[in-house]
Amino acid sequence: MDASDVETVTVLGAGNMGHGIAEVAALAGYEVRMRDINEEFVGNGYDQIEWSLGKLAEKDQISQGDADAALDRVTPLVDVEEAVAGTDLVIEAVPEKMDIKKDVYADVEEYAPADAVFASNTSSLSITELSEVTDRPERFCGMHFFNPPVRMQLVEVISGTHTADGTLELVEDVAEQMGKTPVRVRKDSPGFIVNRVLVPLMNEAAWIVHEGDATVAEVDSTTKFDIGLPMGSFELADQVGVDVGYHVLEYMHEVLGPAYEPCPLLAEKVENEKLGKKTGEGFYDYEDGGADIPS
Ligand code: 3HC
Repeated sequence: MDASDVETVTVLGAGNMGHGIAEVAALAGYEVRMRDINEEFVGNGYDQIEWSLGKLAEKDQISQGDADAALDRVTPLVDVEEAVAGTDLVIEAVPEKMDIKKDVYADVEEYAPADAVFASNTSSLSITELSEVTDRPERFCGMHFFNPPVRMQLVEVISGTHTADGTLELVEDVAEQMGKTPVRVRKDSPGFIVNRVLVPLMNEAAWIVHEGDATVAEVDSTTKFDIGLPMGSFELADQVGVDVGYHVLEYMHEVLGPAYEPCPLLAEKVENEKLGKKTGEGFYDYEDGGADIPS
């Protein structure tokens, strides 16, 4: 099978990344099945896609007809068998926990066609380890999108030890079909490339605030206006989900060592479920206007 045979894409998980990936796949013309564990989660993801497509149409980035057609191509589902039977490509975007992902693959491989390719949107976890719990390690790789998927150009395509070249080529071609720029990551190391750079930046920003050396807004002001990144470190943490960055750090800390010790400020936000935009509050309060960064 190569990329031209891919017609149906199943996205597992309808959260921040899952619904965004489903939207991008639908805009590229694929039939998309978006699956989550209950009606509420999958319904929320579907509503987010509808909102985002509406925004793109409102800004003339796509026509209203293309927005409607893309939404029509998305089928929200809870049943695993329905979601993966006859599919060509499964993109998994469930929470960033090794055990959860392994359980999901065990469920999915029972019903997925033998030649379907599995790609994980993991932010940091070992592709080799995940592939080894499936019956198709050579047809398994990382396909790491960035938040928000509809706006971000890059997709990291990560090879595990067992991944066949044909699998990487197929996934890269699909990413291009989605209008993205795939970059191959040859070494399956924690955080791959982008998060290995970005997540320690968020962590260091948190340590500065934790140690009382600056405020959240002061740190973000320097990141945004001096370093020149599009968002401050804390704005970005709120955008991707404080929990996502925290879990990446925990894993990097476990595998790569003490330099990646997560700042307690991040742990505190996670414990209090102040996870960023998705919960209405993180480092900033989104019910109260969001980031207020001095320039
Ligand atoms: N779909 C459609 N529209 C959206 C949207 C979406 N998903 N998300 C936001 N928008 C809309 C907003 O509602 C707003 O609309 P409005 O103007 O009508 O109010 C508009 O887009 C916001 O656009 P702005 O003009 O204010 O902002 P920009 O266009 O300049 O940029 C951005 C927004 C692209 C998010 C930019 O800030 C950016 O690039 N930020 C950095 C993001 C980043 O680095 N992501 C990667 C994080 S790492 C990661 O994801 C890895 C993971 O594993 C942790």
